[in-house]
Amino acid sequence: MPIYHKQGKIPPKRHTVFEKPNGGLFQEQLFGTEGFSGTSSLLYHHNRPTMVKEYLSPIDVTPKIAVEKNLMAKRFIGFNIPQIDDFLESKTDLLVNNDLLLGLAAPKDSMGDYFYKNGEADELIFIHKGSGTLKTIFGNIPFQYGDYLIIPRGTIYQIQFDSKDNRLFYLESFSPIYFPKRYRNNFGQLLENAPFCERDLRLPENLETHDVKGDFLIKVKKQGQIHRIIYGAHPFDLVGWDGFNYPYAFSIFDFEPITGRIHQPPPVHQTFEGRNFVVCSFCPRLYDYHPKAIPAPYNHSNIDSDEVLYYVDGDFMSRNDVKKGQLTLHPGGIPHGPHPGAMERSIGQTKTEELALMVDPFHPFKITQAAAEIDDGTYFKSWMD
Ligand SMILES: [Fe+2]
Repeated sequence: MPIYHKQGKIPPKRHTVFEKPNGGLFQEQLFGTEGFSGTSSLLYHHNRPTMVKEYLSPIDVTPKIAVEKNLMAKRFIGFNIPQIDDFLESKTDLLVNNDLLLGLAAPKDSMGDYFYKNGEADELIFIHKGSGTLKTIFGNIPFQYGDYLIIPRGTIYQIQFDSKDNRLFYLESFSPIYFPKRYRNNFGQLLENAPFCERDLRLPENLETHDVKGDFLIKVKKQGQIHRIIYGAHPFDLVGWDGFNYPYAFSIFDFEPITGRIHQPPPVHQTFEGRNFVVCSFCPRLYDYHPKAIPAPYNHSNIDSDEVLYYVDGDFMSRNDVKKGQLTLHPGGIPHGPHPGAMERSIGQTKTEELALMVDPFHPFKITQAAAEIDDGTYFKSWMD
């Protein structure tokens, strides 16, 4: 995150004595990523963040792989993922490789009796349906339809939903999720030609400080296991923090599309990047305005990456019979393009209401059993006349 942010009280000088009003010292914690050279924040706890009381048995959530090596275009019916009470149990991993995994979830209940953190992956959660509050050790972030929530690994959080009807797309990245480097200047500030700016980001506010001892269950995901650790103090016990490493929200509706006289390539839609993948946002926008422009994309050979699209809303102009909540996978190695009739249909159109996310991994995805169960099995034939 290229923005410095702070909440609560912090000492004037880092790594110096910070006294509690009633005696004793606050506990400082460096919360960093990429060793000591990535972004970091300094956190000031009432209690030591290391007070482990007990380990309960871990729960194995390693994705079960159905297809290791795929070269078939596929369509997954995402809304067939079942609604499940618990947030973590509702997460259904669909596509995985060594850099990231992605999936869908339809949780009904807020997290009440436990806290959660991902111990090895930055998380991106896209809110397709529902609203609520992401409560974190850094403060709270209200969210609603269309929001991306970016949660750096190690962030302890709880999700509270306003209702039981929630649909989420999520991505877990084993490297930090950043805005594209080409959108930023040497100092990290977003450039004038970036499709969004710092004002569009919603940072944690209303820091909650719970100086309470007791038994607090934190579920920690690492290496395909949900480890269950009982800590001796409430994890949301910061009196203050500052720095650059913290969760935030960004609404897809604040992404300002870049358009042109002729078809613009997918990188103009890029929103985030991680190691060996990018995330793009296809938003409602005016179409190309050359008098002979073809707004539908040309056939293309994405030799270097698979391409995954998640359809959120509107009519997706290059596809026939694609509906909300569906995911398509176009594997690298074979070309794909507009469906029959889509190119002709697009000519003369002036705008689109499509809303979709795209994830391009630079190494192939494996397909999980859960994905195979919602694979319609016919998509690869959909370009035939
Ligand atoms: Fe494509």
